[in-house]
Amino acid sequence: MGQLKWWQKTLVYQVYPKSFLDTTGSGQGDIPGITSKLDYLGSLGVGAVWLTPVYPSPMVDNGYDIADYTDIDPSYGTMEDMEELIAEAGKRNIRIVMDLVYNHTSDRHAWFLESRTGRDNGKSDWYIWRNANPDGSAPTNWRSIFGGSAWTWCEERQQYYLHTFAKEQPDLNWENPEVRQALYDAANFWLEKGVGGFRIDAIVYIKKPQEFRDGPPDSADGMVNIHSMTANTNGILDFLREFREKVFDGKDIFTVAEANSVGPEELHDWVGELGVFDMLFEFSHTNLEFTNGEIWCQATGYRPEIIPALKKCLTASQKATADNGWYPIFFENHDQPRCVRHFFPDDADPVHAAKAIALLLFTLRGTPFVYEGQELGMDNVSWGSIEDYNDISSHGQYELAREEGYAEDVAMRFVQRYSRDNARTPMQWTMERHAGFTTGEPWLPVHEDYATYCVETESVAEGSVLSFYRKLSRLRRSGKASEVLQRGNYVEWTGLGDMIYAFRRQWAGKEVTTLVNFGSEEVHYEPQGMDQTELLAATHPMPAKGVLRPYEAVCCMGDCLAGRGKGVQKS
Ligand code: NOJ
Repeated sequence: MGQLKWWQKTLVYQVYPKSFLDTTGSGQGDIPGITSKLDYLGSLGVGAVWLTPVYPSPMVDNGYDIADYTDIDPSYGTMEDMEELIAEAGKRNIRIVMDLVYNHTSDRHAWFLESRTGRDNGKSDWYIWRNANPDGSAPTNWRSIFGGSAWTWCEERQQYYLHTFAKEQPDLNWENPEVRQALYDAANFWLEKGVGGFRIDAIVYIKKPQEFRDGPPDSADGMVNIHSMTANTNGILDFLREFREKVFDGKDIFTVAEANSVGPEELHDWVGELGVFDMLFEFSHTNLEFTNGEIWCQATGYRPEIIPALKKCLTASQKATADNGWYPIFFENHDQPRCVRHFFPDDADPVHAAKAIALLLFTLRGTPFVYEGQELGMDNVSWGSIEDYNDISSHGQYELAREEGYAEDVAMRFVQRYSRDNARTPMQWTMERHAGFTTGEPWLPVHEDYATYCVETESVAEGSVLSFYRKLSRLRRSGKASEVLQRGNYVEWTGLGDMIYAFRRQWAGKEVTTLVNFGSEEVHYEPQGMDQTELLAATHPMPAKGVLRPYEAVCCMGDCLAGRGKGVQKS
């Protein structure tokens, strides 16, 4: 391995701007709010901030429905605010990373407004239009990811258009070179403004199959999840290589693609020396409760069995990038439940759970991505009625569950567990009203536990999740363990039982060992090879070698040469 790049050594922080900090009293976060918190982010050791979309948008999907790729939504501020954010971040050695949503636009984008007018305008084939079947039905039985048919009829044009997500998010036609060039131009516009990279949304869907055919129905509605019909199809790499050449090549930036369904065996085409991107998000470790696609009412909820599967997925991704490529390490984002509930049963202490995940985040090999509020241990919400939820996906999945015959309270339990609003409640800054997020009425309610889990409280409370994040971030960036944590290879330490995840990172004769107990039982093990080690961090006070209390995690540093055997679980 040669020199590491800047983005391999740093910590990336994801900001969901609508929920970060409101400076105007509108009840929604804005760009000046982000700028005002750059010092806070600096104190966490953040080197890049990924902003979910801030472009003009009708906000049907909170910005993932973009109406103009080269401007800023007025609710977030102005282009000058954005330029100031990039400049102020630069002064603190923080780069701003934009979200490129290139599979689809908003149905309010000028391109779509023109395209929908007829079959012979300048943008007529910028989207995916098809005639109705002879009986008037949609061209295929594909279900959109948010629920309902993936085809919507356009009266004006007398054709259906395809949308992988909501009907307000029509899919672009990447086969058209003019479309591709327009997208590259928009990305280059932001590079000229000085951004430090891109997160690329839903990119696996840009290449549609040669022929549009029905798929085998996966539920009672007779439809099939579009994902299984259009994700990562043949020919996608030609588009992606052109994208790289026209936008990314030769720039000192990083790219991270959202690429659900790209498996370890294909990774070399996607990342690394010959790959298109620097990193990709794949979701095998966050989708463990879903046996079939991402249909919420078919998910299992938390079960202890997900832990062995979690270990398997993490080990597979660590191995896949051992010699080529690099992974982002993440456990949360704006689409996922909060990790303190995701990987732990409801009775687990959220502080221990949050810290255990933090230990994994900073000691696995890859670039840690922290989602806003994760560093505080922010928790899921649980609202009583579907009307309380804003997330478009929650509404679609609730409808689907009801159509499948689930009673209202059962359908609500799926929403409470999987709603993306769990991650979107306002950031908790202070003990004041609305957690200091806004002086107005917040667009989503603030979590009721905010006085305990907020920056103000956690900055001074001993043993807080925030102080643990700060400590781990320092360990990874500087000091004796940093080289091992950044560069070291990964060896899983097996044999300690299903609920213990243990691994070693090794580099230049040094070694860091991480042990996490995901279970509610105390576990005893033989701490072979750890006799000479020094404790670096622990979730609980006074950890003891050879014992892991429920949900306890530790991380130690030592000498690789110390003798060791296979771990043994005693209880
Ligand atoms: C993935 C994004 O993370 C999600 O929030 C969004 O709804 C879809 N892509 C559609 O853009």
